[in-house]
Amino acid sequence: MDHISNLPDGVLCHILSFLTTKEAALTSILAKRWLNLVAFIPSLKIDDTVFLHPEKGKGDREDVKQSFMDFVDRVLALQGNSPLNKFSLMCVTDVDTDRVDGWISSALARGVSDLDLKIINNEEFYQLSPKCFECSTLVSLTIGSGIDISLVAGRIRLPLLKTLVLDSVSVCPNEFETLLHALPSLEELLLVYVVWKGMDVTVSSASLKTLTIKLCFWLNTLSFDTPSLLHFNYSGLVAPDYPVVNMGNLVDAQIDFFLPDNDEDAHRYSKVWKLFHGTRNVPNLSFGPDTLEVISMCSESMPVFNNLKSLAIESHECKGWQAMPALLRNCPHLETLVLQGLLHHVTDKCGDACDCISREDKGLSLRLCPVKVMKIHGFRRTMEEMELIKHFLYYFPCLKEIEVHAEENNNPTQLRSQRVMEMFELYNELSSCNVQLFI
Ligand SMILES: *[C@@H]1O[C@H](CO)[C@@H](O)[C@H](O)[C@H]1NC(C)=O
Ligand SMILES: *[C@@H]1O[C@H](CO)[C@@H](O)[C@H](O)[C@H]1NC(C)=O
Repeated sequence: MDHISNLPDGVLCHILSFLTTKEAALTSILAKRWLNLVAFIPSLKIDDTVFLHPEKGKGDREDVKQSFMDFVDRVLALQGNSPLNKFSLMCVTDVDTDRVDGWISSALARGVSDLDLKIINNEEFYQLSPKCFECSTLVSLTIGSGIDISLVAGRIRLPLLKTLVLDSVSVCPNEFETLLHALPSLEELLLVYVVWKGMDVTVSSASLKTLTIKLCFWLNTLSFDTPSLLHFNYSGLVAPDYPVVNMGNLVDAQIDFFLPDNDEDAHRYSKVWKLFHGTRNVPNLSFGPDTLEVISMCSESMPVFNNLKSLAIESHECKGWQAMPALLRNCPHLETLVLQGLLHHVTDKCGDACDCISREDKGLSLRLCPVKVMKIHGFRRTMEEMELIKHFLYYFPCLKEIEVHAEENNNPTQLRSQRVMEMFELYNELSSCNVQLFI
């Protein structure tokens, strides 16, 4: 304690900033000097779960809830108008929304640059005050679960906002579009399980560089007018149509669709190729197992990925590889192929990319593919996988290197099993390719 007490005030304030405000306040009870310091912590992290322990049923007790709210009032009063950089407020128990409004207003008035809110009311969404969208100091805004945002056109002024996170928030698509147009500095946008109050959503921003979208709502259309976008990460449900996909400067894209079980209604996915078409210039692309299934349903319309150097594909034992031949044919300059798992569902259309089914045109799509490096992850040391690796060695004409990484939770002694090790040695001897197993 004494060592700590000897530190300068600035350093102590910095240390206190990393604690939740309750911890910092408790710590400060230990010394008068510390108590004075709470007044100057430039970062407040208030989390009622730390305070109320609702898992113990304490949150239901009116007096405990009251004392939490009084505590927040006291801390804010103690701090007065001192500058505040970061304000994080997590309330999962029903707190008085008028008081919450007051706390947020006070943080905004103190020039906060990073605001992070998560407010869950049992009854309904918490209506966020439009004031949060009129703040000339905010750089990062995170609005989490349980909040409904209503935006008033003409009353949005967030000139410095760079990062916006909407997580399980209820939003109207039209208002969302108005919001984005009013954010001239926006670079990073995360839309996580947003509850869309409409079926047609457009993400339009001239400045946006990074977009992460997790879709859990059925939409009719989803459009992206984001010409400066560099990083695109999409996961979740497939929209039936992507009318506008303007992202010609992408550096990497990850598309991980989620299909409901047994959904093979190919017609529904007939326009999904537009999303791929919009990403066709990307050098680095990554697909999930369901994405492969969707590609197989629209493979006639797949674009040629002329700039694609690195392709990563995640496999799943229950999902097929029938898209693989068309995909490899459409990547004429591919250098690196990353496979997250080799085991996949064998279908009669599994194609000439793998050796599951003996076919006359076996290996055909591999023979034309210039891939030099393969990285295989999640290797489970089965003979099926060994056969597939052999197949790759035989048919990929330019292959120089295969890195095989064993699945993490696999027993390492089993992995070193004699048979598998011998096969790796043999593969190295018989091919000009360097085949390495990492355990
Ligand atoms: C994309 O999002 C997924 C799921 O949210 C995450 O696991 C992954 O790391 C993200 N990828 C990148 C490149 O950020
Ligand atoms: C491609 O992007 C992923 C993230 O999506 C990243 O982890 C990976 O390192 C990138 N690969 C290359 C070759 O740039």
